[in-house]
Amino acid sequence: MSDLLGDMRRTHSCCELGIDDVGQKVVLMGWVLRRRDHGGVIFVDLRDRNGITQVVFNPAVDEAVHAKAHEIRNEYVLAVRGRVDPRPEGMINPNLLTGTIEVTVTELKILNAARTPPFLIEDDIDVSENIRLKFRHLDLRRPQMQKNLILRHRSTASVREFLNSRGFLDLETPFLTRSTPEGARDYLVPSRVNPGQFYALPQSPQIFKQLFMISGFDRYYQIVRCFRDEDLRADRQPEFTQIDMEMSFVGEEEIMEVAEGMMAALFKDVLGRQLELPFSRLTYTEALDRFGLDKPDTRFGLELRDVSDIVAESKFNVFSGVVKKGGIVKALNAKGCIDFSRKEIDDLTDFVAVYRARGMAWIKVRENEWQSPIVKFFSEDEKKALAERIEMQPGDLIFFVADQPKVVNESLGNLRNLLGKRLGLIDEKRFEFLWITRFPMFEYDDAERRYQALHHPFTSPLEEDYARLVEDPPAVQSRAYDLVLNGFEIGGGSIRIHQREVQEKVFEALGMDRQTYEEKFGFLLTALDSGAPPHGGIAIGFDRLIMLMCGEASIRDVIAFPKTQKAACLLTGAPSETAKKQLDELHLRLRPGIKE
Ligand code: AMO
Ligand code: AMP
Repeated sequence: MSDLLGDMRRTHSCCELGIDDVGQKVVLMGWVLRRRDHGGVIFVDLRDRNGITQVVFNPAVDEAVHAKAHEIRNEYVLAVRGRVDPRPEGMINPNLLTGTIEVTVTELKILNAARTPPFLIEDDIDVSENIRLKFRHLDLRRPQMQKNLILRHRSTASVREFLNSRGFLDLETPFLTRSTPEGARDYLVPSRVNPGQFYALPQSPQIFKQLFMISGFDRYYQIVRCFRDEDLRADRQPEFTQIDMEMSFVGEEEIMEVAEGMMAALFKDVLGRQLELPFSRLTYTEALDRFGLDKPDTRFGLELRDVSDIVAESKFNVFSGVVKKGGIVKALNAKGCIDFSRKEIDDLTDFVAVYRARGMAWIKVRENEWQSPIVKFFSEDEKKALAERIEMQPGDLIFFVADQPKVVNESLGNLRNLLGKRLGLIDEKRFEFLWITRFPMFEYDDAERRYQALHHPFTSPLEEDYARLVEDPPAVQSRAYDLVLNGFEIGGGSIRIHQREVQEKVFEALGMDRQTYEEKFGFLLTALDSGAPPHGGIAIGFDRLIMLMCGEASIRDVIAFPKTQKAACLLTGAPSETAKKQLDELHLRLRPGIKE
């Protein structure tokens, strides 16, 4: 390298030269964004991570250098020495930080050539995400991606500074470990030296951070990778990063206060935004009731209304029948949407069908009448009560879903989000943080026919509900809380169980017998027995948080080397097949039919 560079040393980055530097001799190094040949004079926009400077090759200044500049193509890597000159009148570019100057080149080194890139290195490119991911090293050169990753870096720095200043210790936890249940499938790693045995990659450092509390490290944090084998979406990756925290001798309030302080410092440091503290709170029940989802976007209204009581005795059998079977009927008032066409309504009905709604009834509210296939079924009293409950006004379009609560809430909750966006009700510049509290401890898993922990099995039930653990699991509330930002769950945590007996009861409520939980979690039970302090914590989904701070729609745009929807890395080709020899060493054999 030193041979190639000779006596050239980079003196400036490509963003920092201005009119005050005119006359200076400088050396710049970077990539060719574009080259323009203007009747003899060649202009190159030279780019590095900080910005762009225009460098000029003028035959009148140096003929040999100018001749060599003809070789330059996009994305070549250059080192140039030259003089900072003011741009001539009329050539000033106000959009560029360095737009008042240019560098007249007297020495050029082409450090490396480059093939023509498959897409332009600029922001608004029209190319599929797969191509971007395959050539990620080029994609990451684009200004937006550079900005995102730099913001991510600054955020990590801010979070560390905040937590360090509050006495948190940054401690590491293992990746090769036992299953840490967070509700997803594990990624397994076969052990070579222990035939037939496997490590699991952690779904989170949950158990280890609790062990740190038991060991007396009373404030822990880690910005840490977690691994979950689950169906991927725009806000889900198989490996993702958490800001993971745990504290001893605290209750919910202290943990929420630290998390809020951390967010406030982060938004101020990185975005220059002042967050209003404390964040609002909703209970789980209220969130579902009003918004249908436990991660509501509260930047706009369109709240759901439960009308089950009004329609329970109505002649519309779809509604009354559902209520009789323990279901509910809810309405969503799409204000001012009376002009939606039949096709638009059908499309929205298809949309809610994804959430298993078997139908969606509607009413168009006109000045003197309701237009609707179901209006004939309602009595005058029922109509009056509906109009009042739903706050109907002429011009409104009302949607109804009748079903079991889960289906109704998910359908209308997601429809609400869709309409909020479509109707332009969302102020995209706003950051609306919201705590959701008082989650149920368990949810029934129809497929497995048993209760699952809604959060994770180490979450403490409310003390007054301990007795119900055995008698009435669905009635048990937990000391869990989620942090929601603009309709995304960006964090979750809880006060933990710190007593062995309670932990055992919870395992039992989850359908585990003593032998099973002793085998899986005996080490934790033993630790709880060894003087475990009361403790709790939270983990923030760092990728989701950064996605929202960057205004991106996918966490893939804030992760340097993400996986596709099919959990593949298009850049490296992972996952890939492996040699038989390696499988043999790991004591593995592929099922017949799977290529070896
Ligand atoms: P939880 O499972 O809620 O809690 O995870 C915390 C946060 O991590 C983010 N997250 C994800 N982000 C991207 N891709 C994924 N696949 C993914 N899964 C989760 C979410 C989520 O809110 N150990 C507990 C925390 C605790 O109790 O302290 C835990 O992991 O933003
Ligand atoms: P039907 O009597 O099946 O023709 O339905 C009359 C109207 O009720 C149609 O607009 C259906 O979309 C709607 N509908 C059917 N099932 C439901 C349901 N579970 N919830 C809400 N509306 C429904």
